[in-house]
Amino acid sequence: MAITYDAVKPWGRSFSEYVGMFGLTETDLHGRIIGCGDGPASFNAEATALGYQVTSVDPIYALTPLQIEQRIHETWEQIVEQMRQNMDMFVWTKFKSLDDVRDTRLRAMRRFIADLEQGQQEGRYIDASLPDLPFADSSFDLALCSNFLFMYSDNLSTAFHIAAVQEMGRVAREVRIFPLYDLANKESDHVIPVMEFMQAQGWQVARVPVDYEFLRGANQMLRLTPSTDQGPQT
Ligand SMILES: C[S@@+](CC[C@H](N)C(=O)[O-])C[C@H]1O[C@@H](n2cnc3c(N)ncnc32)[C@H](O)[C@@H]1O
Repeated sequence: MAITYDAVKPWGRSFSEYVGMFGLTETDLHGRIIGCGDGPASFNAEATALGYQVTSVDPIYALTPLQIEQRIHETWEQIVEQMRQNMDMFVWTKFKSLDDVRDTRLRAMRRFIADLEQGQQEGRYIDASLPDLPFADSSFDLALCSNFLFMYSDNLSTAFHIAAVQEMGRVAREVRIFPLYDLANKESDHVIPVMEFMQAQGWQVARVPVDYEFLRGANQMLRLTPSTDQGPQT
């Protein structure tokens, strides 16, 4: 059995999961970071509390905190149920049980909800959607995108993926995307077209192993750096 969603789900991860998914170092964290499709993750709230500078963009930020909470409430049971039916698709080392995943995610999302209003006032949560970001060129040092691009490959075309990654590369000098897998537990068919397009645009593009694996086999990020930079390669 595979996991299938009719739409992109609001489901949020924590700061420590972002650090793992993207191999974030202290140097990375001290830069200006944009999280694309951060949704109800607590990355921004926790990073801000630690003194880092993170801007999150997501179309769900058009909703009120109450509306987002309702949407999470409407969908989390379905997500957990799909995981229950596909337990062998996941690696149970970081999380010990499904209850542990559920509690960790709900805790992260509550942390996000508690921060949302203040973060909106401070311009840290922006209602915007890939592939159009309301920022000038090179406004950020690092653009991140987790559990949206590549993961929802059935819902989003190759053209969308290319336009989205190109836009992330316009507003930031480095781009990282995690995971490269789709919900069928294999590398997304969009990965190679995105790599080829961005390489042709002069970017250095590499699959980089990371110290994070929950969806079995999904333990690499895509890292895009300007071709003059020397980054870790695979
Ligand atoms: C599964 S959540 C992932 C949240 C977070 N990045 C994480 O890893 O925990 C996917 C998010 O993508 C957002 N999304 C959907 N369409 C988008 C678009 N065109 N541009 C940016 N984000 C989008 C959804 O609203 C949702 O919050």
